[in-house]
Amino acid sequence: MKLFHIFSLLLCISAFSLATGRRLAAGPVAPVPPAEHREVYADGRLFDITHKVSKDTPTWDSKEGLGQFLSPLASIKNGSALNMAEVKMSVHTATHVDSPAHVFDNYADAGYDVDSLDLEVLNGPALLVDVPRDNNITADVMMSLNIPKGVRRVLFRTANTDRHLMFKKEFDSSYTGFMKDGAKWLVENTDIKLVGLDYLSVAAYAEALDTHLEFLVNRETILVEGLKLDNILPGLYTLHCLPVRLVGADGSPTRCILLK
Ligand SMILES: *[C@@H]1O[C@H](CO)[C@@H](O)[C@H](O)[C@H]1NC(C)=O
Ligand SMILES: *[C@@H]1O[C@H](CO)[C@@H](O)[C@H](O)[C@H]1NC(C)=O
Repeated sequence: MKLFHIFSLLLCISAFSLATGRRLAAGPVAPVPPAEHREVYADGRLFDITHKVSKDTPTWDSKEGLGQFLSPLASIKNGSALNMAEVKMSVHTATHVDSPAHVFDNYADAGYDVDSLDLEVLNGPALLVDVPRDNNITADVMMSLNIPKGVRRVLFRTANTDRHLMFKKEFDSSYTGFMKDGAKWLVENTDIKLVGLDYLSVAAYAEALDTHLEFLVNRETILVEGLKLDNILPGLYTLHCLPVRLVGADGSPTRCILLK
């Protein structure tokens, strides 16, 4: 009995010194790296439709991609108590929203920035539709989609997703988007207040500015650009988009998810 007690005491002491010894020698045990970042959660009911912000994220009119957007303000490797990064990038990087201030300077002056966007529009039932692959989104295409009255949020999936354009660092101006007449038709003939699309602009390159003017002049439509719509069936979902509240900014990065 006594011997056994002494033995287990010794075991405890040596286990303790082993543990503290290891802690002193090597610091906390190196963590296992996280598993592959996920796109789908909750047993296939929650889809992350946000693109990653990385150095290879495509940016407007550039061959180079975003490049270095993070730099250290403080780093443990350099003797600081913590790591702290600072971010430098356009507010229209990767998945983001546009406010009326983006293309109307009088709206910018009046405060129609991203912080003025209606969270109720950014969150709620949304339809994911596939558009024809042989055209940009014109008034005729909008008509052919037959989106029912009452639908307030639509995510338009285009050839951009098939072409993996958001995964290519070189900007491609041949992407599919709304033509001016398509935007005008949508504003005048539907109840859609949130327009989402799968490349850096909802507007086709050839009519980028005019199309934005059509969408944003009434300050009722929110544009969500750079969505990741791969591997999701068309249909009705619940959308949640939560842009960062950048006061005074004309756009803002946003996390968007779809719930089945
Ligand atoms: C650490 O400090 C050196 C010298 O000031 C600097 O060149 C380097 O960028 C710093 N690195 C980090 C990660 O802070
Ligand atoms: C859509 O418009 C762009 C120019 O903005 C053009 O390069 C592209 O070929 C058009 N796409 C289709 C499918 O017609």
